[in-house]
Amino acid sequence: MRIVVTGASGWIGSHTVPELLAAGHEVIGLARSDASADRIAGLGAEVRRGDLEDLASLRAAAGDADGVVHLGYDHDFSDMAHALETDRLAISTLGEALEGRGGPLVVIGGTGVRPGQVSTETDTPAPAGNPRAAHGDLAFGFADRGVRPMVVRFPPTVHGRGDHGFVARLVRIARDAGFAGYPGDGTNRWPAVHVRDAARVVALGVDRAPARTALHALAEEGITTRRIAEAIGARYDLPVRSVAPQDVEAHFGWLAMFFAADLPASSGLTRELLGWAPDQPTLVEDLAAGAYDGA
Ligand SMILES: NC(=O)c1ccc[n+]([C@@H]2O[C@H](COP(=O)([O-])OP(=O)(O)OC[C@H]3O[C@@H](n4cnc5c(N)ncnc54)[C@H](OP(=O)(O)O)[C@@H]3O)[C@@H](O)[C@H]2O)c1
Repeated sequence: MRIVVTGASGWIGSHTVPELLAAGHEVIGLARSDASADRIAGLGAEVRRGDLEDLASLRAAAGDADGVVHLGYDHDFSDMAHALETDRLAISTLGEALEGRGGPLVVIGGTGVRPGQVSTETDTPAPAGNPRAAHGDLAFGFADRGVRPMVVRFPPTVHGRGDHGFVARLVRIARDAGFAGYPGDGTNRWPAVHVRDAARVVALGVDRAPARTALHALAEEGITTRRIAEAIGARYDLPVRSVAPQDVEAHFGWLAMFFAADLPASSGLTRELLGWAPDQPTLVEDLAAGAYDGA
């Protein structure tokens, strides 16, 4: 298939492109700058200039493709409303451009569907704690219009060497503070997946997932935040200690809303449907091996 990938130059996108190419697809990466274009070309994909904020460029790119993997996202947490609206319009535009051809439309969600309980692929995200939940429904609506939409839900950390996401930030916070902290008693859990395992779920979903499938790209169901802090402390020779609930926000900043949440999730249905088994290092193994030394 001819697959357009938005966010092809990003962390997960740059690992997904090689998986799609290896599966035999023709891959077109959307680039909004020369630097992104070079990165995508370096991955062996075709480059198409475009911007998530330029809907005509999305329409044109998806219009002559068989499917779309929509990984692009504006991660400016200071203006989440703008990022959400950009994402909503992008999904609408991409879905419309694919109408009637039966091809895949992959959009992204989070696994924190039912905080405090092990969430599964069949759970419906509660819009209250999950502002992007409606975007999965938006994509699923295109199933009635000749598209094969699916949501790939990622855990809070899609880790690996070169990751500049949440775990890199946790490492920086720990180094700056002089200790590796965990919220409260540290029993709240984060699921996790290595970026190469995550990329494989996306590529397998493109080939195998039926319309309206939610996939959970996670290898570990729930690592306690205390265990994560201990791994950071061990690697960077820092003491490890609890951060009192009233200090969590001041200590972790905007990351507090994620790191203080209990978000266990399972991926049993995804493994069964796709025949997928993660085989990359765990989060603690990555930390111990120095994958975040450059954070
Ligand atoms: N990484 C994680 O741990 C994690 C966890 C849960 C969910 N997710 C979700 O997974 C998806 C991919 O995440 P990621 O970690 O790969 O993100 P990332 O590394 O921040 O990459 C974002 C990508 O989006 C592109 N992009 C941003 N704004 C754009 C715009 N206006 N026009 C065109 N392209 C634009 C970026 O292009 P440039 O190269 O030009 O900047 C980049 O390719 C996102 O939806 C993210 O929210 C990620």
